[in-house]
Amino acid sequence: MEKIILDCDPGHDDAIAILLAAGNPNIDLLGITTVSGNHNVENTTRNALSTCTAYGIKVPVAKGSPGPLVSDQVLAVEIHGETGLDGPELPPASFDLDRRHAVDFIIETVMAHEPKTVTLVPVGPYTNIALAIRKDPRIIGRVKKVVAMGGSYTRGNITPAAEFNVYADPEAADVVFRADWDVTMVGLDLTQTQALATPDLQDRVRAVGGPIAKFILDIWAFIATTHGGLLQIAYPAIHDACCVAALIDPAIITTEKADIRVETAGRWTKGMTVCNFEKMGGMRHFGGTAGEQVNFRHTVAMKLDHQKFCDLIVDALERLSRN
Ligand code: BDR
Ligand code: CA
Repeated sequence: MEKIILDCDPGHDDAIAILLAAGNPNIDLLGITTVSGNHNVENTTRNALSTCTAYGIKVPVAKGSPGPLVSDQVLAVEIHGETGLDGPELPPASFDLDRRHAVDFIIETVMAHEPKTVTLVPVGPYTNIALAIRKDPRIIGRVKKVVAMGGSYTRGNITPAAEFNVYADPEAADVVFRADWDVTMVGLDLTQTQALATPDLQDRVRAVGGPIAKFILDIWAFIATTHGGLLQIAYPAIHDACCVAALIDPAIITTEKADIRVETAGRWTKGMTVCNFEKMGGMRHFGGTAGEQVNFRHTVAMKLDHQKFCDLIVDALERLSRN
């Protein structure tokens, strides 16, 4: 059983990550923390609470950072709409937020559990995680690992070089990738090309029926228009749920070791995750006068078993629908 804190900015694919985490018996969802990203933190928090209300998910939800550490705020309204979760209808939230700020929730939860038992799953900009490290660096040694959606070793989606979550708060991503803990980068190379809501998956979800299936189908119907239109992706990408899936069944992704650096200041490359792959020979240093030491300690998600991924989504949907 993997104990996780899902740090998110719902967000259509974030909502599916919530459902997968809540609906799989191998995940112990300790809490949901929210951050600004796809929309402002008021909307992402409301969307998280409403999703939990609608589908009987009873976990603490703690509201987090309203904006990035240093950069100007960038929202993904053109992808996720004016509410951050346009398309499906959701009820108003019927339960209260956790009284703590997300940063304190993360620190207190990690410190309250045995060392190396809690995994952080950031699937929005990494602002909360970076602030939690700053506020209490003990969490670095205490966390089991970090499985983060974001970055890319090939192309970006908000710029040619950068993926949205990293671009939206590159300084926070820099803090997270520099910290001495185990980070897996589940980037666009996997999520935007392989984790797609294919017609076959949509048919399987439709066959389950009921309100949760409708919610997921409505999510994909909306995202098909923005992913298809703006990004020219064939089917909706289910980015964030890939992190949860990889924790449920590590065999669902193949990985390679790399040393990842975040570009915080490039004119055309701000937010780029520069991946130095061990398997490809590995460059000996990152250049610059510092000639920084290379350490292939990061893990990069490479290939997704799409069939198994779809099975997990359908299984979670069936379980939640029975509750
Ligand atoms: C990431 O950006 C957001 O729009 C999605 O929710 C996902 O976390 C993909 O680049
Ligand atoms: Ca997200």
